[in-house]
Order: sequence, then C-alpha cells, then structure tokens
Amino acid sequence: MTTPRVENEAFEALLHEQRRFSPSEAFVQQANATAELYAEANADPEAWWAEEARRLTWSTPFTKVLEWDAPFARWFSDGTLNASVNCLDRHVEDGRGEKVALHWVGEPEGDRLAITYSEMLAKVSKAANALTSLGVQAGDRVAIYMPMIPEAMVAMLACARIGAPHSVIFGGFSAEALADRILDADCRVVITADGGFRRGVAAGLKVQIDDALKLCPDVDRVLVVRRTGQDVTWVEGRDRWWHEVVDPQPSVHEAQAFPAEHPLYIMYTSGTTAKPKGIFHTTGGYLTHTATTHRYVFDVKPETDIFWTAADIGWVTGHSYIVYGPMTNGVTQVMYEGTPDAGGQDRWWRIIEEYGVTILYCAPTAIRTFMKWGDHLPASHDLTSLRLLGSVGEPINPGAWMWYRTHIGGDRCPIVDTWWQTETGGIMITPLPGVTATKPGAGMVPFPGISADVVDNDGASVSNGQGGLLVITRPWPGMLRGIWGDEERYRETYWSRFDGVYFAGDGAKRDEDGDLWLLGRVDDVMNVSGHRLSTAEVEHAIVGHPAVAEAAVVGASDEMTGQAIVAFVTLKAANQVASGGEAALIEEIRNHIAQVISPIAKPRQIILTPDLPKTRSGKIMRRLLRDVAEHRALGDVTTLTDPAVVKMIDELMASHGEEE
Ligand code: PRX
Repeated sequence: MTTPRVENEAFEALLHEQRRFSPSEAFVQQANATAELYAEANADPEAWWAEEARRLTWSTPFTKVLEWDAPFARWFSDGTLNASVNCLDRHVEDGRGEKVALHWVGEPEGDRLAITYSEMLAKVSKAANALTSLGVQAGDRVAIYMPMIPEAMVAMLACARIGAPHSVIFGGFSAEALADRILDADCRVVITADGGFRRGVAAGLKVQIDDALKLCPDVDRVLVVRRTGQDVTWVEGRDRWWHEVVDPQPSVHEAQAFPAEHPLYIMYTSGTTAKPKGIFHTTGGYLTHTATTHRYVFDVKPETDIFWTAADIGWVTGHSYIVYGPMTNGVTQVMYEGTPDAGGQDRWWRIIEEYGVTILYCAPTAIRTFMKWGDHLPASHDLTSLRLLGSVGEPINPGAWMWYRTHIGGDRCPIVDTWWQTETGGIMITPLPGVTATKPGAGMVPFPGISADVVDNDGASVSNGQGGLLVITRPWPGMLRGIWGDEERYRETYWSRFDGVYFAGDGAKRDEDGDLWLLGRVDDVMNVSGHRLSTAEVEHAIVGHPAVAEAAVVGASDEMTGQAIVAFVTLKAANQVASGGEAALIEEIRNHIAQVISPIAKPRQIILTPDLPKTRSGKIMRRLLRDVAEHRALGDVTTLTDPAVVKMIDELMASHGEEE
C-alpha cells in the first residue's frame, strides 16, 4: 500500500495559500442547506436520517432506523416502499404529471424528446408489465446494456417497480466483460439496444450481447430497443423487439411495495483483483441517501431547476444522480446521449444555453478537455442560467477547478466537489452550497450525518496538516450491503484493514484548517478519466494474448485523464519480435485489451521488456514501475533480485517516448 503523494506543486501552493470562496449573500438567502444541518445531523445521525427518510413515500412506515451488526447494516428495515413509485407516481398524484421529467437530447442534431412525469410513468408501467409477461419476478436479476436513451431509465425503473434488481453494464464494456457480469449475477433477461450514437457513429451494442451470450446459456430473453436502425442478428425465441413487447402493454401497473432492504440493484466495479465486484444496494436507505444529498448538495428547487448530470447511466453517478436522487425529488433533467464534441466542441454549452440548465454535474476529465479546447467555446454561449456546478469521479486539480469557476460558472456559481464511490451509494464528502466556503481542489467536509476520518497506517487519526487513509467511521443509509455472492470479499476488502470502520481505498489529507483534500487511490485501482479499472484486470487481459508471458500494469499521472494506464509486458520466448515488428504487436495487444474489457482500458503506453523487476520472493515491484512510468527518480532497489532490470526498463521507456 502506498501513501499518496500530493498531486503537484501548484496544488501545494494553493493549499498553502488557503484561497477560499465564500458563498454569496444572495445564494445563502435561498439555499436549501443551512449551517445548522451539521449540528442537527451530528447530534443524532440516525434520527436525522430518519427524518429525511420520512420525506419518501412509504407504504408501511418504518419504526426501526438502523440495525448495525458490523459490517452489516439494515436501515428502516420494517418499512416497505417502491422505488419507482417514489420516482414517478407520487409526483403525478401530487399534480405534477405535466412537468417535464426528461429533456432528452440525442447525439444526431435535432433528435430530441421532452417526456413528462405522467408519460414516464406510463412508459415504466408498460415496461413493468412487459417484464412480468416475460416471466421476470421480484428478486430476479435483469442485465441492462444500453446507450443514453430514455429507455435506459425506463428499464431501470421498470425493474425497480417489480422488485427485480437491475445490473446495468456500461455500454463501453466488451463481450467478455459483459459475460462475466451477466454470469456473476445470474441474469436470465437482458435489455439492450441495437446500438447508440457516439461521435457520429452508430456503435453496435446488440452485437456485443450476441457474443457475450455465447458464454451465458441461461439467458433466455433479450429485449432490444431499436435506436439506430442498424442491422442486427437475431436469435429466434430469445430476442424480442422492445417496441413489439412493451408498446402494446397496458400503461397502468399496480406497484407492489417491498421491504426497505429489498435489493434495488447490482453495479459491478473494479477492485484490486481481476474479478469485478458486484456492489449491491437496497431500497429505502439508498433512496434516502441519494434524495437527501441531491436536495442539499445541489440545492435543487424542483419547480425551477434544470438539472444535468453529464455522466453515463452505466456508472453509479448515473444511477444516483440521474435516476434515483433527481427522480425522487421530481426535478426536470437534461439527458444527453453522445460525446461532448459531437456536432462541435461547444455541444455542451449549446445544450446549457438552449435548455437553460441551472445545475451541471460532471467529471474533472471533461473540464480539463474543455480547457484544452479553448475558452472561446463557452464564451460564445449564454451560460448565465447556471447557478451551481458539481464535480465528481476523480480528484479535481485546482487549475481545472478555477477554470470551471471562471469560464463556466461566470465567477458566480458555487462549486461542489463531491467525493463518493459506487460502494457509498451517494455523496459523502462535499461542501454545502450556501454554507461552506470552498477551496479550489478540496472536498472539504463530510456531508451531515456522515462521519469520515483520515488515519495513519495504525488507524490513528492524523492531525491537521497531515495525510493518510480515508475511512468512514459510522454506517450510512446508502452504503453497499455487500458484494453479490461474496460475503468474505466484502469483509476483507472494506472492513479488515481497520477494525469496525470502512476503508475506502483512497488517500486524503487534512489541511491546517481540518478540511479534507482527496488524493486518489492508494491501492491497485486506477482512475482513468473517472473510469475505475484495476491493474489486475488489465494484466489479466494482457496475459490472455497468446504472445505474452507476463504483464505488470500501473496507473501513471496524466494531465488530461488524471491517470493513464502504462503496461510493462514480457513476451514468450518464441514471440520475441525483431525491432520494427514491435509496433504491430503492441497495437495487437491494445486491441486485445479493448476486446476483452473495453476500449477505455487501452494503455496509453505498452513497453515490451525482456524482464520485470521482482523482489526476492517473486513479487513484481509496482512502486518502481510507477516511478519509471512517471519519469521519477527510482526509489530503493535493494530488495530486487536484479536491480539492473529496472534500469533497463527505465531506458526502454525513455527510448520509446510517450505513445498515444
Ligand atoms: O478514488 C475515488 C475517486 O473515484 C473512486 C470511486 O470510483 P467509482 O466507484 O467509480 O465512483 C465514481 C463516482 C462516484 C473513489 O474511490 N473519486 C470519486 N470522486 C472523487 C474521487 N476522487 C477525488 N475527488 C472526488 N470528488
């Protein structure tokens, strides 16, 4: 385990400068959050969360709040509710049925839809009836592999409505990664589309499902949305068009209430081994956490705000802050299908101007990309509708934070840098707009009712000015309830490092004022453009290539993507290539990784090397490889079997330069 380094000199400089942006008086006047929230919540966190939970619509009110049998939590367990009813029916019943739930923007210009809450309820009801007609019952897992189209949300809420946990798999994953996830959750039904539009191209999704399902014989139903009109192959008896099955269904569906601890979804994420973890979330606590954080962190006013989380529904950000939090709060949202540069590098700014987006939530990688594309692009659009900006998914460097504030937020919008994880379900560390004076690049403080600490290797709290490991010291409503089918891994991964507290896997620093700065992962998990990938998973894919003997993968700092993947690869003796043939083989390995995992897992650089640095016990010294990849002076090499190996790799690296 490494101790994280403070990102760079600029970061340090700003840290010392302790620059702060206090909330404006105008914002404070109208903010949902008040400074008293912290005192109220922290005086009795369970009572506070229970109060927040009572804002949901319960069929049976709960009397129990938290049952904590470490590391297993149950929240509101004797209450019953339906997540989809909370997201839809109650808004319609309260007379808000004509309010737009989604302004959907397709990637091709002019492709758009406005869907009201009533229409959404009808669509979800039809889809719920359709799933029931296909034999899906409460408790059955349904895999969803979709582009960013309204049917993705409809499918999720339809599953929730009938109590069938969904497992949404990001559309960028390839067939093998898909198959692993479908098998692990034992899904029998898959919902997908022919494809989706990305950067002007009709990318195929059904084709990946077809390949994946060769490995998943138990899947007997595939529902396919026609999005692009591309040709697809068809397995008779298994594959059905969405419009043929869903459209004729009754648009009314009587939702059943489920216990608060009924599983809502599984979301696979990368851990430190090659096998992804099926993080599972349940209903009552998760909805409470997402809706509460959505209300206070984004200061949402459902009557007037146009909220836009620019993330994919295939990641947890999309689950919590496109589907469950915002829909529970009845807000109007923008949902965009494509890439930020489709139809011009100002696409986002056009969308904001056109729809009058008031709150934007996105990842630092996007912000850094926009910085590179130029200030003139946002400057040529009217972005004055914006009143709040959010950041998520990776550490935001102070430079990007300042650019976001100035060029997108017009120096007027508060920025909330929100730290959380697939496992936490919702936001955990964040400023509260209207309350917290922010510092560029800092996550600041735990959300009310959340207890976080920064500890040293022995679990003792560090003092101000010190760095260490981030832990969460009390159970919280949105916390994962486990790893699907693997209780031991759940205990081991999160609860064994320190007794009784949740170990997040991140490094953090507490500054002189006691405010928190998130510094990235301290384990073998990489964060590339906010996408979470494990070094072991990528290594596993590389050694699956027939020419490869061994591979070591590290995440190296990257100005644009936060981290980038660098792979060190040794070949089987028979495959040593003559110089010149190397480039072709490297390309082949990159494509192989894309095929096994996803194009997002392609290394920035692959170095073919005759050997890898190992300790005398045979462990690969990743720390040294990270130094090599980041062009840093090499650390201690005395424990290596052959110190000359690192030197050789260092030279190889230098002679190859950076590859795209
Ligand atoms: O390292 C942290 C980083 O993203 C990890 C969680 O990734 P994932 O489960 O995919 O969820 C991403 C969206 C919530 C964390 O362990 N991370 C997330 N948000 C931040 C962050 N690092 C620094 N600052 C953040 N705001």
